[in-house]
Amino acid sequence: MFDFDCPVERRHTDSEKWDGCATRFGRSGLVPLWVADMDFSAPPAVVQALVERARHPVYGYTMVNDDVLHSLIDWLQARFDWQPAPRHIVLAPGVVPSIHAAVQAYTLPGDGVIVQTPVYAPFMQAVRTLGRSILENPLILRETAGRLHYEMDLAGLEQLARQGARMLLLCSPHNPVGRVWREDELRDVLVIARRYGLVVFADEIHADLVYPGERQIPLATLASEDDQLLTAVAPSKTFNLPGLGLSAVIASDPLLQEKFRHVLTGWHWSAGNPFSLTGWMAAYRHGAAWLDALLVYLQRNRDDAAAAIVEQWPGVRPVLPQGTVLMWLDCRQLGMDDAALQHWFVHHCGLALSPGILFGAPGRGFMRLNLATPRQRLLQAIEQCGRVAFPSFRQGC
Ligand SMILES: Cc1ncc(COP(=O)(O)O)c(C=O)c1O
Repeated sequence: MFDFDCPVERRHTDSEKWDGCATRFGRSGLVPLWVADMDFSAPPAVVQALVERARHPVYGYTMVNDDVLHSLIDWLQARFDWQPAPRHIVLAPGVVPSIHAAVQAYTLPGDGVIVQTPVYAPFMQAVRTLGRSILENPLILRETAGRLHYEMDLAGLEQLARQGARMLLLCSPHNPVGRVWREDELRDVLVIARRYGLVVFADEIHADLVYPGERQIPLATLASEDDQLLTAVAPSKTFNLPGLGLSAVIASDPLLQEKFRHVLTGWHWSAGNPFSLTGWMAAYRHGAAWLDALLVYLQRNRDDAAAAIVEQWPGVRPVLPQGTVLMWLDCRQLGMDDAALQHWFVHHCGLALSPGILFGAPGRGFMRLNLATPRQRLLQAIEQCGRVAFPSFRQGC
């Protein structure tokens, strides 16, 4: 019914991932498996709604009608059994701007903000740009039955909170390592936050991209109304609409929410535009079947890509994601420093991957690969890299 195998030509659309690749990586003709968007068409219902809206030739200031919030609430109810009240929802341009707004709203220059590295780089950038202090609580990498996986260092988190950290930026599911946090882990985070008065910003932008058999639990469904918690959600990753730039922050504590709104008001941002709002409603109202089909497709991409890498890239160990379209690759056995690793994937393999070091020091020796592309392209890229580059690597090139 939905054809994810059919390649969509994205070149010459000003795509950052495709058209920005040569500038970013210093070479043309690479297979771009970096930026976290997908090479698939958005759900047909979204495309149709946007085309219809575009046909109306006036693109004026647009109000947020009731259905914008209710389409999100109904989605959260159906997928996560979570029904936030409309008054708890604040629309925001993107999740990264919301991280900045939240850090600005709840901390002062010099205050400590906890990030759990390796993590999405804008977490660190927001803290640094605003003159707050980054408190790193690195995730713990474990090996069980030959498989690599990450866990949260809850003791480390508590220690930083005890030492006076003001805020935690939680990534759930976690980019880049693909963890979907368990209920006991999330409950422990809430206990620590309450005990030490930490504000928690839960970035749940990848919440819908969780593989069949895994269960994403929104932190808010475990929290009480007066917990100092904000949750960011968006249709952008879920339905491949990140260019439309609209997200939401959900916070039930009135004072917490007021402070967040206050920062956004200062930016003079008017919520949404004709296209972001149209895409949002079409996606949340009519995108469920498309998403379910996508997740099945992505699961096979994940499993086939991991198997191919184990077989064809000796020395590289994939960390199987439970959620997100991203696969984290342990390349440490290749014995290269980060610059050499990046150069090698670009110039020997012809692949544009995200260097792990961008996600913080624990990402040293890792790379991140985006699985959301037609399977044939993905597996061909892995195969070609294995055939062309790995033999030469074995010979010491
Ligand atoms: C964890 C996380 N948060 C936020 C974003 C980007 O959010 P936005 O485009 O809404 O600013 C990404 C994009 O990859 C992400 O992985």
